[in-house]
Amino acid sequence: MISDLWYKNAVIYCLSVATYMDANGDGVGDFEGLMRRLDYLHGLGVTAIWLMPFQTSPGRDGGYDISNYYEVDPRYGTLGDFVEFTHGAQERGIRVLIDLVVNHTSDQHPWFQDARRDPQSKYRDWYVWSKKKPAGANRGMVFPGVQKSTWSHDAKARAWYFHRFYDFQPDLNTSNPYVQAEILKIMGFWIQLGVSGFRMDAVPFVIATKGPRAGKPTEQYDMLRAFREFLQWRQGDAIVLAEANVLPDTDMEYFGTDGDRMHMMFNFQVNQNLFYALAAEDSRPLRTALKGTRQRPATAQWGQFLRNHDELDLGRLTPAQRNTVFEAFGPEPQMQLYERGIRRRLAPMLNGDRRRIELAYSLMFTLPGTPVLRYGDELAMGDDLNLQERECARTPMQWSTEPNAGFTKSARPVLPVISGGPFGFEHVNAAQQRRDPNSMLNWIERVIRMRKEVPEVGWGDFQVVQTRDPAVFVIRYDWRNNSVLFVHNLSATPREAKFEVGVSGKAGDLLVNLLSEDHSRAGDGGRHCVLLEAYGYRWYRVGGLDYLLKRSEVG
Ligand code: NOJ
Repeated sequence: MISDLWYKNAVIYCLSVATYMDANGDGVGDFEGLMRRLDYLHGLGVTAIWLMPFQTSPGRDGGYDISNYYEVDPRYGTLGDFVEFTHGAQERGIRVLIDLVVNHTSDQHPWFQDARRDPQSKYRDWYVWSKKKPAGANRGMVFPGVQKSTWSHDAKARAWYFHRFYDFQPDLNTSNPYVQAEILKIMGFWIQLGVSGFRMDAVPFVIATKGPRAGKPTEQYDMLRAFREFLQWRQGDAIVLAEANVLPDTDMEYFGTDGDRMHMMFNFQVNQNLFYALAAEDSRPLRTALKGTRQRPATAQWGQFLRNHDELDLGRLTPAQRNTVFEAFGPEPQMQLYERGIRRRLAPMLNGDRRRIELAYSLMFTLPGTPVLRYGDELAMGDDLNLQERECARTPMQWSTEPNAGFTKSARPVLPVISGGPFGFEHVNAAQQRRDPNSMLNWIERVIRMRKEVPEVGWGDFQVVQTRDPAVFVIRYDWRNNSVLFVHNLSATPREAKFEVGVSGKAGDLLVNLLSEDHSRAGDGGRHCVLLEAYGYRWYRVGGLDYLLKRSEVG
């Protein structure tokens, strides 16, 4: 198979324009600011940016409440600035993915305003209405504890409207062919302006049947094929990266058995079990999650991540497992959210312990799929638990020791910059970390460089290698006549990892370390014995460094 599907071996970096850099001094990040930071992202080595919503919005849910799909919110700039930005990214070999938020609009969107005003409006049927309060109105909330219901009464419309998320986010009636046509138009518009695809928000809800009598919603998977088909006609290498926190047995419905639906999905199953593995020092459920999500078409890819802009959702773990993660990484009620998750950033969750942060990242970069990093995590930025809900992990990027971390010249940044304490910008910022060869930033940069040279992870088949110790996790990838192997010690104590590489012939006798001089030779009987320090990790090539001479064009 030809190996030029860019997303199979990419490094994606997710950021919101609003909190990245403010060039015009009004306290809110903008495209001009982001443009000026493209060289930073290029230097870091990321190959794609995932931009959170930047379209016109009242901004009540971090921009996930859009009131005009075809404009840039004036606070961030203009369409002209946006095109300058996609062009600048392209010049540096960086692709741009943007959020596609079409499960719902803002209640301020003219479509909704028109629909509620006039029952005869052509937009009335673009939303989901009920004359009476539906029986299930207090079920299915995505933000329990904050969101009270999924149906709200609208006095002007004299009807109830459905909203899977907050009440200011009325759901679009996505079964309506006119709504579907509009979704394609939105995709076509942004493709034309230089993006390489979309992170599609809330996919299971987009394709679900909706309505007062919908009962248990049914997913209309065919819609996914229609989105993809359109995209592929317009631009062959554009992709959809689906946000779908679903059970492994439906994964193939989302990817399509012929690889004809979503190109990529975030692997929520692995994400939750990865945090459990770190908390419990036990890799077994992670291994189960990897096996459960193994099946996917050759052209499809997982997005592997640690943290994103939402809470760390632990809803798929057992109550006992969830409690283990809560106790380890978010013991206080104010660290938890929506009865299922933790709202902190990675570094404070791991107590700022550099060994553990590296371990978590090393795992993320070496799990089957494409790594997706969250802005600021490359510096080990912290959070501000005084902020509401998920806002705590969305504070401005910490660029330097200048006022407001060099994010803005305004005295009033869009969200407070973290200042003081171990995670304050005075200690944690890009400028200082650039100068320090041992900084987190330079570590991430080195690891990204190496990860790009290990396409086996993105493309290959994986095998979890047997060890006796559940705290030791060993995984091997095989691709085109080459193998790589990664060893992780989840435990706070040193471990001896004993294992057989499992490839045929003598190649498995030598493991060449890719990150240090600490190589491993098998003992008698072909077994390796690697002494790992607490939270230690190793990246190895199997057999030697002449692998590129051995690589085959097929397989
Ligand atoms: C998922 C997004 O990640 C989240 O931030 C948002 O609140 C909801 N979808 C609603 O759009």
